[in-house]
Amino acid sequence: MSFVVAIDGPAAAGKGTLSRLIAKRYGFHHLDTGLTYRAAAKALIDAGLPLDDEAVAEKTARQVDLSGLDSAVLSAHAIGEAASKIAVMPAVRRALVEAQRAFALKEPGTVLDGRDIGTVVCPDAAVKLYVTASPEVRAKRRYDEIVTGGGTADYTTIFEDVKKRDTRDMGRADSPLRPAEDAHLLDTSEMSIEAAFQAAKTLIDVALNKTI
Ligand code: DC
Repeated sequence: MSFVVAIDGPAAAGKGTLSRLIAKRYGFHHLDTGLTYRAAAKALIDAGLPLDDEAVAEKTARQVDLSGLDSAVLSAHAIGEAASKIAVMPAVRRALVEAQRAFALKEPGTVLDGRDIGTVVCPDAAVKLYVTASPEVRAKRRYDEIVTGGGTADYTTIFEDVKKRDTRDMGRADSPLRPAEDAHLLDTSEMSIEAAFQAAKTLIDVALNKTI
């Protein structure tokens, strides 16, 4: 059986960076599940299809190829907004969760990050982390990321956006964002990514020793 590390949390909490570090350290495959929702949303937009037709969105979601997810293209703000709209549709979630579960079987292990990995996609994951940070800190990180990348950004707009995204992700009826009961909470508001990684590593090493 594959060793699964499930990482959930709100947007810009540091899940992505932490997941990549863990995958690299342990030689595990990594899937940013947000990209699967983004890829389905982008495919709909590119085809000129509506974002509010569940049957059409499901069909598109079933065609998403997990091996061709381009994070640079999919990170666009408009795609994130569209993704969060189709992510409330149960049929879209079922289609993408199926693909994510198949990915989670890869040997020797996988790291999946998203909103519902520990609760729905991989409830039997060996290690579950819930990574969070205050909305202010997350908005500041997003802002710095954009400015460092040479772009222009408005902090207040990003902050409002982070809160809006949280409300949508936590408030939806199907698979709302919440920590699994057995998830370890990592609040990165005042924690460096290195410290978060060390905390995660300690938990993973304990779980790995148990499975040997
Ligand atoms: O993490 P992200 O910004 O790339 O996610 C895009 C949208 O997809 C976000 O609004 C929530 C949704 N999502 C989800 O519902 N479940 C996941 N496992 C991952 C993302």
